[in-house]
Amino acid sequence: MVDSNDFRKWGKQMVDYVADYLDNVEKRPPLSKVEPGYLEKLIPSSAPDKPDRWEDVLGDVERVIMPGISHWHNPNFHAYFATANSYPGILADILSDAIGCIGFTWIASPACTELEIVMMDWLAKMLRLPTDFIVSEGGSGGGVIQGTASEATLVSLLAAKTKHIIRCKSENTEMDNYDIMSKLVAYTSDQSHSSVERAGLIACVRMRLLKSDDKYSLRGDVLKEAIQKDKAKGLIPFFVCATLGTTPSCAFDNLKEIGAVCEEEDVWLHIDAAYAGSAFICPEFRHYLDGVEFAKSFNFNPHKWLRVNFDCSALWIKDRADITDAFNVDPLYLKHEKQTEVTDFRHWQIPLGRRFRSLKLWFVLRLFGVKYLQEYIRTHVKLAHEFEALVKSDPRFEIVTEVIMGLVCFRLKGTNEINEKLLKTINEDGRIHIVPANLRDTYILRFAIVAANTSSNDITFAWEVILELAEKVLHECNHFL
Ligand SMILES: Cc1ncc(COP(=O)(O)O)c(C=O)c1O
Repeated sequence: MVDSNDFRKWGKQMVDYVADYLDNVEKRPPLSKVEPGYLEKLIPSSAPDKPDRWEDVLGDVERVIMPGISHWHNPNFHAYFATANSYPGILADILSDAIGCIGFTWIASPACTELEIVMMDWLAKMLRLPTDFIVSEGGSGGGVIQGTASEATLVSLLAAKTKHIIRCKSENTEMDNYDIMSKLVAYTSDQSHSSVERAGLIACVRMRLLKSDDKYSLRGDVLKEAIQKDKAKGLIPFFVCATLGTTPSCAFDNLKEIGAVCEEEDVWLHIDAAYAGSAFICPEFRHYLDGVEFAKSFNFNPHKWLRVNFDCSALWIKDRADITDAFNVDPLYLKHEKQTEVTDFRHWQIPLGRRFRSLKLWFVLRLFGVKYLQEYIRTHVKLAHEFEALVKSDPRFEIVTEVIMGLVCFRLKGTNEINEKLLKTINEDGRIHIVPANLRDTYILRFAIVAANTSSNDITFAWEVILELAEKVLHECNHFL
């Protein structure tokens, strides 16, 4: 039996292991180099009949697990987007695991629901969201923590779908659910995250990927035209997902134009600000969120850029009834006496069970404070501009899109092939890790500030590595230096 004495002793060792890991993470490679299937060779093929020793389990973390980890918190990891990690977040997760409640209804653990409501209000106030989204300001809506931005988009799309089916049926009594569903159309830009297209597939609705402009931003006139065309065909436009901070290049859709079209056409506007949303806590970046007043739902991931460990995706709905009525089934075993007075988050999400994730927000917001978090965002943006300046200083390279947040899109001037070769060479070299993207027909390299402890020295180091390897690639490709 593992008892509390074991837990106290092993827990202290684990805390030391974690602190040592994060203190020294830059000594580990940013990208794991194992081959597929590496792990099963290192552990037995079935579970032990008798307990293993703790020392052996802890020892196996280094032997079995660490070789297969890409160390996202190594400051030389520059792939994807920022990902959050912090001691307050980890401490809150320990407590959440210990409490181990499944907070699907208020009565299942009132603190779990009530802290979430207050934390979502705190966050909403930090972002200066319209009061409609803020419970403590008498708003008709409110916030809920989802696991991921993908779930947030899907939940919003499903709520919009139900709302439109109900409305269409009330206007046209001859149509049944399936007639209406077959006519629904959703819209997003050709730069949206793949999870938006996937939400359309899961919900069985058409999803049009509209062409963004030359800055990769979706514009109102393009949306308007698409909606008009679909209406002329007898289809029913019902949902638009706008992105603030697209995945390939951190571009921003034109929210004010799109919002005005959604209002005119009575279409649900969802905003996916998965990465960039955290930056809106800084007054100088808040203007990117102007137009949010048109949105029926808004989402960003504190687990990306706000130091709250995965998973914590913040979703606000403007009108609570739109979501609670959409997915409401009410078996006896989940009913409770207070259900008419309180929020039961089981109605606001796809699964029934939910972890006590608001603890992470509470710990992070209290132990860091808003001012520090604003500085944290600013530091990442400043580091991105430092990298941008280095790229611009070398005429063989070009910056592809405007650097606004902590992402720099760049490439060697020349063919896609040479840039593909450069990316492959960088990742095979392994000192830093980046990923590419396609912007229409152009292959680009994305350099993101990811880890919390990235510094100017890491930016200089990354640039030196890139220069060294670019020279090798250019030389091999027979270019003149
Ligand atoms: C704009 C955008 N939306 C959605 C996602 C998906 O996020 P999640 O993993 O939380 O579903 C990402 C991931 O980077 C993203 O950049």
